[in-house]
Amino acid sequence: LKAKMVVDKDFAISEVDSRIYGSFIEHLGRAVYGGVYEPDHPLADENGFRKDVIELVKELNVPIIRYPGGNMVSGYNWEDGVGPRAERPRRLELAWKTIETNEIGTNEFVDWAKKVNSEVMMAINLGTRGIDAARNLLEYCNHPGGTYWSDLRKQHGYKEPHKIKTWCLGNEMDGPWQIGHKTAEEYGRLAVETAKAMKWVDPTIELVACGSSNTSMPTFPQWEATTLEHTYEAADYISLHQYYGNRNDDTASYLAYSLDMDHFIKTIISTCDYIKAKKRSKKTMNLSFDEWNVWFHSNEADKQIEPWSIAPPQLEDIYNFEDALLVGSMLMTMLKHADRVKMACMAQLVNVIAPIMTNNNGGAWKQTIFYPYQHVSLYGRGIALQPVISSPKYDSKEFTDVPYLDSIAVHNPEKEELTIFALNRSLEDSLTLECDVRSFSDYQIIEHIVLENENLKAVNTLESQAVAPHNKGKAVLEAGSVVAPLSKHSWNVIRLG
Ligand code: AHR
Repeated sequence: LKAKMVVDKDFAISEVDSRIYGSFIEHLGRAVYGGVYEPDHPLADENGFRKDVIELVKELNVPIIRYPGGNMVSGYNWEDGVGPRAERPRRLELAWKTIETNEIGTNEFVDWAKKVNSEVMMAINLGTRGIDAARNLLEYCNHPGGTYWSDLRKQHGYKEPHKIKTWCLGNEMDGPWQIGHKTAEEYGRLAVETAKAMKWVDPTIELVACGSSNTSMPTFPQWEATTLEHTYEAADYISLHQYYGNRNDDTASYLAYSLDMDHFIKTIISTCDYIKAKKRSKKTMNLSFDEWNVWFHSNEADKQIEPWSIAPPQLEDIYNFEDALLVGSMLMTMLKHADRVKMACMAQLVNVIAPIMTNNNGGAWKQTIFYPYQHVSLYGRGIALQPVISSPKYDSKEFTDVPYLDSIAVHNPEKEELTIFALNRSLEDSLTLECDVRSFSDYQIIEHIVLENENLKAVNTLESQAVAPHNKGKAVLEAGSVVAPLSKHSWNVIRLG
């Protein structure tokens, strides 16, 4: 197989907003308790945070982390998680049927986020609560002092405001599984009134309105249209959520799910622009893809978990090699829409559908999906370039005309680097990529990183990193083009500078 691509520094899609490399920590399973926080662990720091986990998160260079949910936030009383630990209540957590101890809350999470060099994207409860709880939490977090809630923060040991800039107006409010599920009309009205009050408290914040929970929702995409009718001027972003799984063990289709994601993003952009036209607005609504990943491996195991335990092993997908390939493709899909997708969160970060796993009282390790996420986060900063591709295509059970080559390049002018990300979707053949890099004539190849494995189902464990990248790829420069053999079903990162 052979595919051609042209990249040129003048064909810019947009500067990449680094917040598209965000992630998500929910009070769910062992994400917080046993993941982020384990005070009895030998590697716990003075605050009880696991240092091995902090180091792994730092390797991913995650700019922003959504918190505290997720479905959990729709029943969460944020006041339970602040103040003296001994006085914090234990609650039934209805979304995931566990007991929430509230040992970790807003202030501790802000502390942890600082340790991993991240900002917090705070979600508010628009399920069981509303405007009042939202404005109070915002006052508690961001107001400098001299009021009830800001002085309470000081009393809790946090003299300086947290200055949290990004806030989500609820979570998946279109879903009947959500506590306080609403119709689009009900949600739109509540969201706009909450947004109004929050921006009165702190006009510097940015707000994300809830889009659909996924594209299979019966209300998709009318939900977005109705919601935006209300929130178009008050909100700054609309959220997108989507998870995929290889449920039919059909890898040819599975690796093409990023085309579905692409279609989803285009649909939401069109919906936003329709409302923009209808409202004669000058504002362009941007997208926050604040939950995305593979999620299906753990579905059956989760049915066996007894309700009302503390931090059970929920949503612990063990990812294999082909999952990493799709994750790389999903990241490239967001880069292709860098002009509109300004934030995104891999859901989630530790233990729960996560790139990082831990054993209670034991070690921590990198799942397969860690690697493409790390590569794109490290090397995908700069300007996304329009990929002009001609590739042979295939048909699968679920898709037609799937290009074997999926690729995009990012130019980093400050570092004077160009990075080509490339997936070969072929399950049988290697593919030669010939990429014309005409405007980068003085650049040389730095390295060609490859994630490959004969076994699509190979997984990583604490003991063995069966799926890990090497940089022995054979990309060369020939007459102004990068010529790179991409082995069958492989993820490639070709760095020039
Ligand atoms: O990330 C797991 C769950 O997926 C989140 O709690 C919810 O928002 C989504 O349905």
